Amino acid sequence: MKHRPLGSTGLTVSELGFGCGMVGGILVRGEYPAMRRVVSRAVELGINYFDSAPLYGDGQSEVNLGAVLRELRADALVGTKLHLGAGDLQRVEAVVVESVDQSLRRLGRGHIDLIQLHNPLGTPGPAGWAPMTAKDLAAVTRAFQSLQGQGKIRFWGITALGLTEVLHQAVAAGGLHTIQVVYNLLNPSAGRSVPPDFPFQDYRQLMARAAERAIGVIVIRVLAGGALAGTTERHPTAAPAVAPIGSGQAYEADVARARTFAFLRDGGVVRSPVEAAIRFALSRPEVSTALVGISDLEQLEHAVESANRGPLPADALARIQDAQARFARG
Ligand SMILES: NC(=O)c1ccc[n+]([C@@H]2O[C@H](COP(=O)([O-])OP(=O)(O)OC[C@H]3O[C@@H](n4cnc5c(N)ncnc54)[C@H](OP(=O)(O)O)[C@@H]3O)[C@@H](O)[C@H]2O)c1
Repeated sequence: MKHRPLGSTGLTVSELGFGCGMVGGILVRGEYPAMRRVVSRAVELGINYFDSAPLYGDGQSEVNLGAVLRELRADALVGTKLHLGAGDLQRVEAVVVESVDQSLRRLGRGHIDLIQLHNPLGTPGPAGWAPMTAKDLAAVTRAFQSLQGQGKIRFWGITALGLTEVLHQAVAAGGLHTIQVVYNLLNPSAGRSVPPDFPFQDYRQLMARAAERAIGVIVIRVLAGGALAGTTERHPTAAPAVAPIGSGQAYEADVARARTFAFLRDGGVVRSPVEAAIRFALSRPEVSTALVGISDLEQLEHAVESANRGPLPADALARIQDAQARFARG
């Protein structure tokens, strides 16, 4: 597994990061021995970045990840998140400190390598979450700086979901180490310009703006929550239903649109739709790591093999761009 720099942090992260969320689900719904096996194999294969959040399994993902990494004595980088509730904006610093302390306890670690704001910016998140403005983000950043001074966290970032304009303001304001951004075969707008009538949210090349400021880019939704694997069937460990982020109205619509890229396998460029999706994300030099949600060992092995085949060739990327442009015309 190749490693890339994580922005200006001085850390290097594996090209494939391990998503410990609900969608793949192994760290939330798996049996402990299965989790241990998958995480152990991930470390053996060179994965050194694990992404969790208090939201995932209501803290269970952090508990499980911490336990497995301790048992394995693995030298891994751990990222987690925090979210602010609707009533928390009057006491941002206290809420950030409480949340980080709780995550440290659940993870059983002395520090968090990367803490990220989970709330989207400019739009409400899940029920009960605070709608965050750029000003609120500044208060969160001040709290992060103070926690860094105490050695509880090393670096911080945001989830780049919400209103595109506010996301660009947040990146332009500086003071962030990372962003988690949607970039995949269905919606490449965070990486390059798309036609004005492109049917999905236009992130207006947010990755390039981040890279200009040496902000590390962590890609999410590499497989569109699983839709880019090309089937509506869900793994028993995976989230039973997935709401699209930055792509179609429904998961089934994303699965149907994913067939657009069958030419990559038919033409022998890739061996599977999953490989196409992972190599597409890794074809951007701005990307530090591409997170993939993992349900079992087989998915992990396949994802790693795919990443190790490297970026897609230029002619395949050009054909993909043509196919994506046709989305705009319906
Ligand atoms: N900050 C945020 O708000 C945010 C939002 C989303 C994600 N994330 C992060 O990103 C991680 C990934 O989640 P995601 O939502 O972006 O999902 P994703 O990685 O786009 O999709 C994961 C799904 O893809 C399928 N899959 C994975 N490997 C496969 C393989 N080798 N073969 C076939 N299918 C495969 C699985 O579906 P089945 O299991 O059904 O087969 C899995 O559940 C999360 O764990 C989290 O760490 C963060």
